Amino acid sequence: MWRRGVRFECVDSAQRIETDAERKQVTVLFADVKGSMDLAEGRDPEQWRRIMQRFFSILAEAVHRFEGTVDKFTGDGIMAVFGAPIAHEDHARRACYAALQMLDDVAEYAAELRRGEGLSFSTRIGLDSGEVVAGAIGEGGDGEYTAIGHTVGLAQRMEALAEPGKAYLTEATAELAHGFLQLEDLGEFEIKGASRPVRVFELAGVGAARSRLDLSRERGFSRFVGRDDEMATLEAALERALAGEGTAVGVVAEPGVGKSRLCYEFSERAQGRGVEVFEAQAQAHGREIPFMPVLQMLRAYFGIADDDPERIVREKIAGRALLLDPEFAEELPFLFDFLGVPDPDRPLPQLSAEARHRALRAVVCRLIRAPNRREPIVTVIEDLHWMDEGSETLLGELLASLEGTQTLALVNFRPEYERSWGADVADYREIELGPLGSGDTRELLRDLAGEDPSLDGLAGLVHERTAGNPFFVEEIVRDLVEAGHLEGERGAYRLVRPIEEAGVPASVQTVLAARIDRLEPASKRLLQAASVAGKEVGERTLALVAADQGHDEEAVRELIAAGFLFELELYPERVLAFRHPLTREVAYGTQLAEQRAATHAATARALIELNPDRQGELAALIASHLESAGEELEAARWTARAAYWAGHSRPRDAMRLWATVTRLADGIEEDEETAALAVSSRLLQLDYAWRLGMKREEVARLEAEAGEIATRIGDLRSLAMLRLLRSGRPGLEQSTDEWIAGVEDANRIADESGDDYLRVAIRAAGSYAYLCAADFVDFERTADEVIELAGEDGETGAGIVIGSPVAWAFTAKGIVLREGGRLEEAAELLERGLRMAEEHGDPETASWTRGTLALLLGARGEAEAGVALARRNYELIERLGDVFSRSLALGNVGAAQVVAGEYAEALDSIEASERIYGEAMETGDELEAWRGSIHAEALTGTGRAEEAIAVASRAVAVARGRKLLWSLPLCLQALGRARAVTGGDGAREAFDEAATIAADTGALVALGAIEADRDALTAGAAG
Ligand SMILES: Nc1ncnc2c1ncn2[C@@H]1O[C@H](COP(=O)(O)OP(=O)(O)OP(=O)(O)O)[C@@H](O)[C@H]1O
Ligand SMILES: [Mg+2]
Repeated sequence: MWRRGVRFECVDSAQRIETDAERKQVTVLFADVKGSMDLAEGRDPEQWRRIMQRFFSILAEAVHRFEGTVDKFTGDGIMAVFGAPIAHEDHARRACYAALQMLDDVAEYAAELRRGEGLSFSTRIGLDSGEVVAGAIGEGGDGEYTAIGHTVGLAQRMEALAEPGKAYLTEATAELAHGFLQLEDLGEFEIKGASRPVRVFELAGVGAARSRLDLSRERGFSRFVGRDDEMATLEAALERALAGEGTAVGVVAEPGVGKSRLCYEFSERAQGRGVEVFEAQAQAHGREIPFMPVLQMLRAYFGIADDDPERIVREKIAGRALLLDPEFAEELPFLFDFLGVPDPDRPLPQLSAEARHRALRAVVCRLIRAPNRREPIVTVIEDLHWMDEGSETLLGELLASLEGTQTLALVNFRPEYERSWGADVADYREIELGPLGSGDTRELLRDLAGEDPSLDGLAGLVHERTAGNPFFVEEIVRDLVEAGHLEGERGAYRLVRPIEEAGVPASVQTVLAARIDRLEPASKRLLQAASVAGKEVGERTLALVAADQGHDEEAVRELIAAGFLFELELYPERVLAFRHPLTREVAYGTQLAEQRAATHAATARALIELNPDRQGELAALIASHLESAGEELEAARWTARAAYWAGHSRPRDAMRLWATVTRLADGIEEDEETAALAVSSRLLQLDYAWRLGMKREEVARLEAEAGEIATRIGDLRSLAMLRLLRSGRPGLEQSTDEWIAGVEDANRIADESGDDYLRVAIRAAGSYAYLCAADFVDFERTADEVIELAGEDGETGAGIVIGSPVAWAFTAKGIVLREGGRLEEAAELLERGLRMAEEHGDPETASWTRGTLALLLGARGEAEAGVALARRNYELIERLGDVFSRSLALGNVGAAQVVAGEYAEALDSIEASERIYGEAMETGDELEAWRGSIHAEALTGTGRAEEAIAVASRAVAVARGRKLLWSLPLCLQALGRARAVTGGDGAREAFDEAATIAADTGALVALGAIEADRDALTAGAAG
């Protein structure tokens, strides 16, 4: 079998098609024939029936000629579908051609009836394109094959709207057929059943475009990018041809990759060098029409125009042919006959069709090899995959006769084409054209869309979706323009509406759907299953998912060979991936929701079964399959699992996943489990709020909802958490008194619950309030309680608020020691906290601890090492996306830099720290004053002491107002230093107050530094 596409030829035998219903992009055609009923009255019903039957067969023939399917007879007409059961990429064009043919043929028969019987008949036709569900309708799914959907209704309305003798079509069809057909815009019509007015077109005839490339030319070609190597190969082939070594080159690539464009650009160059180029192309709907491309080629060769009178045509043919070879005189009748201009004076002898074809082939080969031919020529024949058999044979002979001529035959075709020729072509080379690289894609996109900064994110998206297929790139840009995402004009667009979900343009969809439908049924089903399973899927998963849908090696091989899938990985397991994201979307979209849901469920089960050790990692994926399968409860459970797994290492993912759990849980009828999910998912979102930021209203809403559910179901654990999160968490503009009250309340509720896990978690999280209030005694006491309650394993309380409460407790104790000036012991405990945090996978506590260690190094006089550690810490945390920890780590960098005297760098660091926090959070926080103190120090250090005074004063006010006694001495010290630099006014007072607070709270390291400053001030004043 030389062409897999032969299945096209029997589209009408619906029994070949699996009966499963599918979603399909099609064009629906309605045609009816109306006769004058009054005349009918006097007629014999049998005669009437005969007439109507003849009309029906005229309509049906036109449908068949263009490979449509007659869906049903409607009494006075037919409904036909183009693009189902087997998708055609040019379904709209085919439907229009069929409509034109119907109009012609009906008019002809109607004229006959008018003359013979005095009857008057006419037809009306309506067309619409869009998605339908096509399949067998009836009991058990084995009834009639039919199409259902809005498109069907709208096509029928178009028919009703059409005037007698006319075909009307909607904008959707017009969009696809534009250029290939001549259309007249009739304006907008209100159509029953359509929510918006529908733009209607009248079909006026055949258009000028013959290929998609013609259409792009008409729209204005995009700048030709890349293809240097391919061009060089073609140039070399041309050189050989010019040297009399006739040669053939085949360009093969998937649709839209740029075969035609490459051939066109090359032809232009060849013509530029004075070489004549003749072109022909096979047409998707033309396989039933023998020799179409050959005819086209000969007409081009003889320079025949559409409106040349027959005599002129004959003269042109004879003139050129005889010039090449006087012996052509014998063959002229064949050429005349073939080109549709038989010479009345020299009729062709009676020959069989076979003999005529043979004669024709001989003529064409002689033309190529004509002795007097001096000029080199290039012949371009496009889209061999659509060629009829006669032309194919002729092409083979033509290529075989190239040797020794000055001809370059350039052909192109898609990968599914299997050539029957080649063995006897002396010099044949093939160019496998690949997609554009990302640089070329970018350049193409720049040419189409422009360089406005708003388009910055577009290139990545476009490249990812189109995988470098220029046709897809062009269509996606057009689609974005039409959907109102891009505004402006070609080459100068701006993004005005964010692109959340980019669909598949209808033009691209039809191309891909047609390719998919050409697969063997088993391969197609496998592809559909794979499209549900994911853009990449492990072989074992796929085997389980598609167990009853024809997973076998042969199908996999066909999918790989046809370029749908590729082997992403081979070891330890073969992983198959979609070569093209859009193919996956189309394959996905062709399935009914029910079918998809079942496959999603099967995929989830397969993932669970096959990956017992990787369930945390895969939980989010499993959950999303379960959700798509409609299993909300299971989906909620797995999403929760995924959220825990993401945890504090990926806080943003975790927060998003908890929001998903909330949404899923809210959609399920409440029981104990779903209520628990509904509460905990809200609390955990709130827990991420202080790390990542959240709108105030959102916080209030989640708090209220969680409180309501927890109270209703008497859930103490959640109420304790809620208490802590409501007024006992960082990031609130409140005084430490209130904060501590909230924390102690939460501890009490947790104690009441008797749940040690919860007690540890709440205690550890709340302890931070004591630190901020510089209540080091209670801070240490709580840390000790945590260590005691948690026991040996260090896992107790883990993951609720703080990743590793025990690690944090050791860090807390280290901080207390450091504040007390016991630096060596402090370092030991901090190292221990750090180790535990790292062991328990708690990057947050690890980063807080490292930051503290960095400052400890500074206090020990190792300023450089302190900066290095603080920087490293920031690099480690930067990836997390946790605003709180990132801002804190940067603050630590700034503080360490101040100690090292690197003031300019410190200023950058602290400003960035403040910005990061400010951008994400609406409220101030417990670290605001501390950041202010560093900011002021950095300003003073860079000679901007006046500004420093303002910043420090504000920090002092904040620290005082919120009773942030841990920060207050530092803020006062910074104020004192700034004042000291600007003349000393009020510096001493600031230092005095700072020293008093530091002494009262036991912040001995700070006290030492403050006293040194005060001494320096005294010494300065004395000196
Ligand atoms: N190298 C290129 N630079 C810029 N645009 C290109 C390039 N190659 C192709 N295009 C554009 O992409 C679109 C599709 O190209 P083309 O029609 O040549 O594809 P094709 O491979 O012939 O597809 P088909 O198999 O459907 O005929 C055209 O509009 C063309 O102008
Ligand atoms: Mg092409």
